Amino acid sequence: MDIEQSLPGFVNPDVYPDSKSLPGLGNSGETSSVLQSQAEASLTADTLLAPDTPTERIAPPQPDPLLDESRDAVELLGEVLAEAKTCVRCSLAEARTNVVFGVGDPKADLMFIGEGPGADEDATGEPFVGRSGQLLTQLLKDEMSLTREQVYITNVVKCRPPGNRDPKPEEIQACDRFLVRQLQLIAPKVIVTLGNPATKTLLNTTTGITKLRGSKHEFKYPGGMATLIPTFHPSAALRNTANLPMLREDLVVARQELLSQS
Ligand code: URA
Repeated sequence: MDIEQSLPGFVNPDVYPDSKSLPGLGNSGETSSVLQSQAEASLTADTLLAPDTPTERIAPPQPDPLLDESRDAVELLGEVLAEAKTCVRCSLAEARTNVVFGVGDPKADLMFIGEGPGADEDATGEPFVGRSGQLLTQLLKDEMSLTREQVYITNVVKCRPPGNRDPKPEEIQACDRFLVRQLQLIAPKVIVTLGNPATKTLLNTTTGITKLRGSKHEFKYPGGMATLIPTFHPSAALRNTANLPMLREDLVVARQELLSQS
């Protein structure tokens, strides 16, 4: 199994003292300067969990409500959703119809992460409901005997990039606070990244999905750890059917991983 340390920025030693002893805050994969600096600038939890204004920055640190164990993760996720719905941290907010936060079981052991909503998702507020989503739903059933309701599905960015372009680094950076909180609260054991933008963001690498698929990665996030399995975006299988068997194969691996961890 090809296990590597990944997404060091999701670990905040101030909030998670134990994380100080976690090995390898670096990344064993190839990194781009853009994503590297994005990871340094945005995925450090200092930034992720930091207050927004200089005045607030000098205020004494407040307890993180997400670490209050007396509060239900589902309730907290609702609060994060409420925050996302009013988010104007990047220009994607201007043209959106709906914030597409995530769907499925908030206690799921398996999380799928795509790049960002398309037109159908923007219109409905639900991720992966268009052609790609229908294929994903079918593959979940075929290869994992699971329904959409039994897993959690989200994207790296929660608002639609115009014309279905890839999200820009600054948009990913503006939105990463929501993904980090989803990871913290849902605490998945297995993560499947769909396509290049999601895989490159989470693994902090420039290596493409064609090379990365078929591998497994140890992925740390605040408060937890998952096995990350990169695979093709369903749209890549719709565009080129030669990718479909590999996508199916990767979902079978994800199912095995899930079973081995339960
Ligand atoms: N593609 C994605 O990456 N996410 C969606 O939600 C839909 C299409």
